Amino acid sequence: MMKQYDNVFIFDHPLIRHKVSILRDKNTGMKEFRELIEEITTLMTYESMRDVETVPVTVQTPLEETTQYRIPEQSVVIVPILRAGLGMVNGIHTLFPTAKVGHIGMYRDEETLEPHEYYCKLPDGIEDKTVFLVDPMLATGGSACDALTALKARGCKKIKLMSIIGVPEGVEKVARMHPDIPVYVSTLDRCLNENGYILPGLGDAGDRLFGTK
Ligand code: PRP
Ligand code: URA
Repeated sequence: MMKQYDNVFIFDHPLIRHKVSILRDKNTGMKEFRELIEEITTLMTYESMRDVETVPVTVQTPLEETTQYRIPEQSVVIVPILRAGLGMVNGIHTLFPTAKVGHIGMYRDEETLEPHEYYCKLPDGIEDKTVFLVDPMLATGGSACDALTALKARGCKKIKLMSIIGVPEGVEKVARMHPDIPVYVSTLDRCLNENGYILPGLGDAGDRLFGTK
């Protein structure tokens, strides 16, 4: 894992690089795209959960009683940014199936690129949980920053942002506005084009996940 900015973790792993390269390909169809988003999220989850809390539990093996360590079942909440973040939820559930799920709806105005929140429903007690805010694309960073502000306003104290593809503009904006939040991206792309799309990127993640275009 590389660290180019404080609190920003970039996954430089051959398996992730391999899967992201297929994800980017315009000939990759909806089914494979969805599966790849899940698989890459699972790989990223393994690493980004490295510092979550474990608590001692007593386990009786066939031979003796032993003290072991578990992540408390209710300690993790996944919050996808709608729509495209939905594609990442199963990738975390594969490893940690008891995580509850909150939803934040954001869309970018296509002209101004400004994000607008249109929905927010979070599990009770989210204030004390480790929250994984997920969205495959961190472009201008506007959606992620607003979602982080919304979660903090609702009392969340421990949040991790996980995106498949970021660009320096977006990552720097999050680092500037939310320096306390660790950001995990599988790769940092070159730049944004004039329409706010990531280059080389993968196109519109929501459309490719849900087949809307
Ligand atoms: C996309 C993407 C992010 C956002 C990133 O969503 O899924 O949420 O853009 O851009 P930003 O970093 O510049 O804010 P979009 O607004 O297209 O909505 P959708 O997921 O419903 O397609
Ligand atoms: N949202 C996407 O889905 N793709 C981009 O390249 C930028 C924002």
